[in-house]
Amino acid sequence: MRVVVVGATGQFGRAMVAACREASWQVLPLGHEAVEVADRASVAGALEAPYDVVVNATVWHGPAQEDPVMALRVNALGARVVADHAASRGATCVTVSTDYVFDGDATCPYDETVTPAPRSVYGISKATGEALVRASTADHLIVRVASLFDIGGSRAKGGTSFVATMLANARAGKPLRVVNDQVHSPSYAPDAAATTVALLRRGARGIAHVTNAGWCSWFEMAAAVFEEAGIGADLAPSSLKDLPAGGPPRPRYSVLAHGALRRHGVPSPRPWREAIRDYLTREAQR
Ligand SMILES: NC(=O)c1ccc[n+]([C@@H]2O[C@H](COP(=O)([O-])OP(=O)(O)OC[C@H]3O[C@@H](n4cnc5c(N)ncnc54)[C@H](OP(=O)(O)O)[C@@H]3O)[C@@H](O)[C@H]2O)c1
Repeated sequence: MRVVVVGATGQFGRAMVAACREASWQVLPLGHEAVEVADRASVAGALEAPYDVVVNATVWHGPAQEDPVMALRVNALGARVVADHAASRGATCVTVSTDYVFDGDATCPYDETVTPAPRSVYGISKATGEALVRASTADHLIVRVASLFDIGGSRAKGGTSFVATMLANARAGKPLRVVNDQVHSPSYAPDAAATTVALLRRGARGIAHVTNAGWCSWFEMAAAVFEEAGIGADLAPSSLKDLPAGGPPRPRYSVLAHGALRRHGVPSPRPWREAIRDYLTREAQR
């Protein structure tokens, strides 16, 4: 299998490159300096060599609500440009998406069949990207991840993740107030990437939710990080209504059901707490 990873310097991209190498697949990692996803000529130039799968793990870095045009350009148009290139080569396009495509009003996990109803500009741009990929002629797999975390963090978030931020703040003795009324299923990037490889091996197409098993609030996730790390923290629960106004609306509930994984016979990634343990073990070994 010859795989191109676009957005290869990012949190998911790095894990995807590692997972492809683990699978002994040939992988071409492309960072932003090598390709601009919203530019057809740039994509055509960077993806010149033959490939079987292109993984688009890019995301626009800025606050989407402040620049909807750029968010749509990269997250929506860029998704379609990469898909069109894959179609022109008879290759498969994997587009990485998000739980933010949902409204957050559900009270039970969102299945892949639920129609997106995003509430934020970021969610709208990603849902539009999904729709443009689905409307393309490309053979495609849309992998929705949520609350992604890994060592090195997200480039869009300045090289950090929730887990890293919590650990740094606790070690600095800062008081931590973390929302307890936003419930999600986190995705540990190495697990999400390995599961994406497993889905590709099974020939999965369409949409697949790829989050670690189980769910938690951000407060519960922070508490688990400190318990697993064995460090004390001044941690207390807070509410979404206490957050400063002006930020993008967040889905209150965005637990993703694993219907596609079940259908394709691919095991759900390990429970999120075990993934945190793995993160801490790897971090300690660095
Ligand atoms: N992080 C999360 O919590 C989270 C949650 C749910 C879903 N997701 C989704 O997961 C995917 C990966 O997120 P991530 O956290 O891994 O992102 P990330 O760490 O910010 O990485 C994004 C990658 O895309 C590149 N990039 C950005 N704009 C580009 C453009 N216009 N053309 C080409 N490359 C570009 C970046 O390069 P430079 O840094 O050099 O610009 C970087 O390599 C995205 O689809 C995102 O929507 C993320």
